[in-house]
Amino acid sequence: MDPTPRYVPLDARGWRLAMGLRPLDLRNWLELDEHYERDLAEKSGLLDRCFDVVVATEPEGDAGSRELLREVQDFLRRVHPEVATRVDENEHPIVAASRLVQEDLCVLVKDDEWRLRAACVCFPSRWDLAQKIGTTLDAIHGPVPHYDEVLARPTNGFFDRLGPERAFWRLNWTLLDSAALHQPSAARVAPSGQLADWFFRVERQTLRQLPSTKAIVFTIRTYVTSAATLARSDGDFVPALLYAMESASPATQAYKGWTGVAARLRDALVAK
Ligand code: HEM
Repeated sequence: MDPTPRYVPLDARGWRLAMGLRPLDLRNWLELDEHYERDLAEKSGLLDRCFDVVVATEPEGDAGSRELLREVQDFLRRVHPEVATRVDENEHPIVAASRLVQEDLCVLVKDDEWRLRAACVCFPSRWDLAQKIGTTLDAIHGPVPHYDEVLARPTNGFFDRLGPERAFWRLNWTLLDSAALHQPSAARVAPSGQLADWFFRVERQTLRQLPSTKAIVFTIRTYVTSAATLARSDGDFVPALLYAMESASPATQAYKGWTGVAARLRDALVAK
């Protein structure tokens, strides 16, 4: 867990569903930090114990995955020459690539539509990779409230326009009652109103098109920080968090497992 988070993407205007894409300098494509070895060891354990939960591939994603592996190795050799880039040639390239970085990796390929064709996701935020493989962006986001009316068109348009010369990144956040990185089961409503039981979970996501295969790579880097620690270090955190949670629609609150949580946190804080 990070004592001081890199990203606290709370919006003072309250909850917003937005693409929020920003240009990405590819020298900053992937982020390595002091938890590098710990996270890679956790991935390795998950790949041993529950490979089918964290990996899903289809033949349509093989060429893109091979190109992704080369890109990851090139990036590490250029930007982080201190880390090893040797891989097991017998492994699927998306698994081999994923063992080199803290990010989760997804490859999307266009036929009729953009579809998820290969992924190694060891640290999902309460979704099930097996249900998403082979499906379109719209289907992947089926459970996300308001996605279809607000984000489906711009996201599909963005995928169609994205070229290899420009890359982007965005942030997603949620509040969960567990610090675990690997959370493949669906959101649940947790009862606790104690800040100490909650964790601020931020995903830094990047999007880029690979120059040769034209597959699109989606990376997810997950940062988890104790909400109580954040509250101690930043006086604005708790008011902004409670406002963001309460200004989300009831459907969003239910999807996120937040229903009633902000009120319980506030009551507990007032009672202190
Ligand atoms: C511009 C691109 C994208 C945007 C704007 C976007 C937006 C979102 C948003 C707003 C959520 C809800 C998360 C939350 O509130 O906690 C979400 C969830 C999700 N996104 Fe995306 N996303 C994008 C690309 C992708 C891609 C390429 C994948 C490919 C794997 C993906 C996979 C998912 C999954 C699996 C979920 C969870 C869905 C569930 O709960 O079943 N997203 N996305």
